[in-house]
Amino acid sequence: MVFQNYNRETTIKWYDEHSKNYDNESFVPTDNQYAGDLYRIELVRKLLSEHKPEKVLDVGCGTGEPLIRLIDDGVDIRGFDFSPGMVAKAKEKLKARGISESLVEVGDLLDPNIVETYGAGQYDAVVANGILPYIPERDIPHQHLSALVKPGGLYISAYSNSLFDLFTFNRFTMRFYTENFIKPLGLSDTESREIINQIEKLITNADKPSAIPEGARDTVFVRGDNPFEVGPNLVHYGLKQIDLLFYKFHALPPLLKNTSPQIREIFMRESRAYEIDRARDWRGHFLASTFIIVCRKKA
Ligand SMILES: C[S@@+](CC[C@H](N)C(=O)[O-])C[C@H]1O[C@@H](n2cnc3c(N)ncnc32)[C@H](O)[C@@H]1O
Repeated sequence: MVFQNYNRETTIKWYDEHSKNYDNESFVPTDNQYAGDLYRIELVRKLLSEHKPEKVLDVGCGTGEPLIRLIDDGVDIRGFDFSPGMVAKAKEKLKARGISESLVEVGDLLDPNIVETYGAGQYDAVVANGILPYIPERDIPHQHLSALVKPGGLYISAYSNSLFDLFTFNRFTMRFYTENFIKPLGLSDTESREIINQIEKLITNADKPSAIPEGARDTVFVRGDNPFEVGPNLVHYGLKQIDLLFYKFHALPPLLKNTSPQIREIFMRESRAYEIDRARDWRGHFLASTFIIVCRKKA
């Protein structure tokens, strides 16, 4: 199993192709479908109802599901996304509700003109709901996102949690060990390979999962971030972390999920028991595959 390199067109194509079923697969919880992205929407709704920002921008707005629910909450919000398919879906849903379709547009966060297009310092809150995992670098996206926030305003962004890979005992754990613990030692290629081979023997599922049918990461580039590092890094963009919330909990290692109907039931039940109410539990650093950082921009 190879990890995918970033290719903008491949990511757009994946989202275009999945735009039709995206809502059903992401936001409808059933006994068999975790629908973890629903918890992201609920956490962001909660945060915005607590902080009450006036003008909000949703960057990477997808099919507009979070945006529409926030409009229902009375939030003044608009958004953009670089997948024309996702934007078309969002427009279709807005139109069906009698809301202006112009609230969502096609746009790329990495476009050098994006800050000028949407207005520097124009938003009381900028929300980036899971777009950064699909972008390899951090400097330009963080610069652009911060520039859009009004001084004193809020930055709310979801990242994929790289620490979760330590809890999965699979190929992602191997990558975590290699990148974070072996590469920094500066050993020769032969020495590194030998040690990595030995670690593979300790991690009994070093080549699993062979496929991840429910997600994008077999097909497109996805990167994780370390929740201990993101906040300190955002300081360089004038953003001070004020909150950290986890979602998409895995009460047990994901490879156990389908070992028996009983374990599957326990997995779903106990994972869901963490969501929302225990979003700030320290265990989230290890058990949750995604997290939201909330920052306040320097006034
Ligand atoms: C995981 S989806 C989340 C969609 C939406 N925020 C939600 O919560 O349902 C990530 C979205 O980011 C968009 N995206 C990825 N890279 C982008 C970029 N450079 N500029 C704008 N949108 C991007 C994708 O097209 C996709 O719709």
